Amino acid sequence: GRSAPEGVPGKQEQLDPLRDRAEDSYLTTNFGTRVDDTDNSLSVGERGPTLLEDFHFREKVTHFDHERIPERVVHARGAGAYGTFRPYASLAEYTKADFLQDPGRETPVFVRFSTVAGSRGSADTVRDVRGFATKFYTREGNYDLVGNNFPVFFIQDAIKFPDFVHAVKPEPPNEIPQAASAHDTFWDFVSLQPESMHVVLWLMSDRALPRSYRMMQGFGVHTFRFVNAEGRGTFVKFHWRPALGTHSLVWDEAQKIAGKDPDFNRRDLWDAIERGDFPEFELSVQLVPEEDEFAYDFDLLDPTKIIPEEVVPLRPIGKMVLNKNPDNFFAETEQVAFHTAHVVPGIDFTNDPLLQGRNFSYLDTQLIRLGGPNFEQLPVNRPVAPVRNNQRDGYGQHRIHPGQAAYAPNSLGGGCPALASPDAGAYTHHQERVDGVKIRKRSESFADHYSQATLFWNSMAGWEKEHIVAGYRFELGKVLSMEVRERTVGRLNHIDHELATRVAEGIGVTPPAEPAVANHGRSSPALSQANSPTDSI
Ligand code: HEM
Repeated sequence: GRSAPEGVPGKQEQLDPLRDRAEDSYLTTNFGTRVDDTDNSLSVGERGPTLLEDFHFREKVTHFDHERIPERVVHARGAGAYGTFRPYASLAEYTKADFLQDPGRETPVFVRFSTVAGSRGSADTVRDVRGFATKFYTREGNYDLVGNNFPVFFIQDAIKFPDFVHAVKPEPPNEIPQAASAHDTFWDFVSLQPESMHVVLWLMSDRALPRSYRMMQGFGVHTFRFVNAEGRGTFVKFHWRPALGTHSLVWDEAQKIAGKDPDFNRRDLWDAIERGDFPEFELSVQLVPEEDEFAYDFDLLDPTKIIPEEVVPLRPIGKMVLNKNPDNFFAETEQVAFHTAHVVPGIDFTNDPLLQGRNFSYLDTQLIRLGGPNFEQLPVNRPVAPVRNNQRDGYGQHRIHPGQAAYAPNSLGGGCPALASPDAGAYTHHQERVDGVKIRKRSESFADHYSQATLFWNSMAGWEKEHIVAGYRFELGKVLSMEVRERTVGRLNHIDHELATRVAEGIGVTPPAEPAVANHGRSSPALSQANSPTDSI
């Protein structure tokens, strides 16, 4: 890095002094007083009342009473691991990000995989999107790539996220169902919201049932921006691909495993790392020159669209190896705080309205989930890069800031770290020209909700189509409202007539008479007439 300090610690080196060394000490109170009995409370006589003066009892129980923190509002259930990332070659032509310059430089990472809808204790093998969030502890500060295992999302604008999540989560009266898309509010919302049609097709496919976190792709979803040392921007989409290949469960297996071992994916990740069978993922990018911003029949800023790989091929840029389990689930996997706005020089945003909103939401939610403004001091969240500024105090403050002045400018010393120039590694925002009137209006370039869904459907093999149809029949077939079922079939008819017909036949809806789109009358790989074996489950 241009002037990133040499000698910054590795992440494990940084964590090491913070790990408790339990073996060499007596049981004590939290303030270090040794304890002689932790099984009997202090009482008046053997059968009398407990005394308020029993400070050990009160401290022990009070601490226990406060053990829980709110679970994540989404992605509550997850599993994490540490590892390392190394680029294959310098990417200086496209980005000045320090961790992408030198194949000799290894950057520590923490990854958290998750399901989205279920609560913390829900089963792993549900039909759901999976989160794939990576924190790179770079010498220039933390960079978080907060992605999913699907390349597209349900909505185009972050202002819809509360509506979307309220529709997906268990229903308010009875908190049913856990972690499933088999309910009325989910289908009601997505059928009224055609921008969801592409991702829902992914959700009904086997991609929603990963066999292992080690066998799952990851996507940054949004178009981001690389910026090189000359200030030239390049649009970039990020892809993780597992060395073991991408594999799914089938629905029948997924359901049985959910009963027999609800920790199936979590256990698989843990066990693989324990036995030294380290999961590997290759990072690839799709690069689009800024001049080509308008070269496609979809908008690069629309997170419900992919850039087809035939149009812009993937370019592998590096490899990540996960080689260490956390020591403590709560301290690390639960308290880790990812944020799309954690960027480093050389990586910038685009105006994707979903990304713009995420850049607000993560810090906001973590302020309450992690109890105040100092959660970046938690061991798992600490950058290995040095931190210095005039932010002070607050709940959970662990730093002792010396000096009289905590403001700038000041002439009294302390509290006045020097400002960096870009040459000294400062983050500067990409200078994009933006002109416009204030307006609430979705761009017309976001309006095609079906073409890429059709592309996805057409790319499926016959048996994959069978599984998708069975997925819709199972999930949509649980919906009580016939109106919602019918409306959904109507939407599917815009994707593919055969898909709509086959789904309709399995859920008591009259199949649409005509294709909604001309080419859907074409002959496509036929679905077998026999019901899929999973239909009756
Ligand atoms: C959490 C991905 C859209 C709000 C997460 C996590 C992932 C993720 C992977 C879990 C992070 C972890 O393991 O700790 C995505 C992707 C999105 C998306 C790929 C779209 C491309 C949004 C939007 C919002 C949002 C639009 C809000 C407007 C949240 C919140 C959390 C979360 C509040 C919980 C964070 C925490 O408590 O630490 N998201 N998300 N997400 N996401 Fe998103």
